[in-house]
Amino acid sequence: MHKAPRKGLNNSVTMGTLGYGVYKVPPADTAQLCALALDAGYRTLDTASLYGNESGVGQAVAEALAIGATVREDIFVTTKLWNSDHGYRRAHEAFAASKALLGLDYVDLYLIHWPCRGKGLALETYRALEELYRAGEVRAIGVSNFLQQDLEQLLEHADVVPAVNQVEVHPYLQQKGLRAFHDRHGITTQAWSPLGRGAVLDDPVIGRIAAELGRSPAQVILRWHQQQGVAAVVKASTGTRIAENFTIFEFELTAEQLAAIASLERGQRFGSHPAEVN
Ligand SMILES: NC(=O)c1ccc[n+]([C@@H]2O[C@H](COP(=O)([O-])OP(=O)(O)OC[C@H]3O[C@@H](n4cnc5c(N)ncnc54)[C@H](OP(=O)(O)O)[C@@H]3O)[C@@H](O)[C@H]2O)c1
Repeated sequence: MHKAPRKGLNNSVTMGTLGYGVYKVPPADTAQLCALALDAGYRTLDTASLYGNESGVGQAVAEALAIGATVREDIFVTTKLWNSDHGYRRAHEAFAASKALLGLDYVDLYLIHWPCRGKGLALETYRALEELYRAGEVRAIGVSNFLQQDLEQLLEHADVVPAVNQVEVHPYLQQKGLRAFHDRHGITTQAWSPLGRGAVLDDPVIGRIAAELGRSPAQVILRWHQQQGVAAVVKASTGTRIAENFTIFEFELTAEQLAAIASLERGQRFGSHPAEVN
């Protein structure tokens, strides 16, 4: 079975370059779908307090460990602090609640889900995450949906450089400027909605490349993320799709194919604009 390559974060921790994400996965199905993902080879799982399914993720991990299918050190679980939990004290409480639902001794990556500029509490929220990091409760801390301006403000005050900024990235929103900023500061870019919520799957250029390679459109797009050096978390709701999306480590896109995908950039978001979320 293939394993996703792991990428070193800006500390000693490594994260899978392809993870399984469970946004909108119903809580009752989460353990079963995460088990299918673990069977397919995923070791990186992405949830959030918002998703209401942290306990299902934890259950799948516990079961995989119990049967000896994997070891804790190979598993990488991310969860995220929701917008209503900004603030120093609330952040500590939110983390304790997420950790209890996951049933883990430690969380691998804890992210501030959105900067929530209107609240103005991101810095003190991040201070709580730094404490959790120093206490060994989390192996890495980071942010999500931070624009360059949000990161600049954070970096001015933070002691711990965020390991990850998880943002919307796909062929229609390639985030080249933000990715270059991340690279300059040692922040790993992790793509959410790597398939554009499925909307990029029907693109004719992607379809043409898929036909050339004898691969599916989803495989082509996920392979593109790999070759950009962008880690991604992808969601799918059937075992077949979950496995299909993970079968991207034994083929490569050519320079011409990469250039054709680069030309698809159109600044199109399928999710919210980070400056508008509070
Ligand atoms: N940090 C954030 O603010 C944030 C925001 C959004 C998402 N995320 C994370 O990113 C993960 C992925 O994002 P996403 O779920 O929005 O979008 P996505 O992974 O880009 O796309 C998921 C959609 O594509 C479909 N799909 C997946 N694989 C397919 C395949 N092989 N063939 C055909 N269709 C396929 C899925 O259908 P089915 O489900 O029907 O199989 C689903 O409708 C989330 O689960 C979550 O963990 C984070």
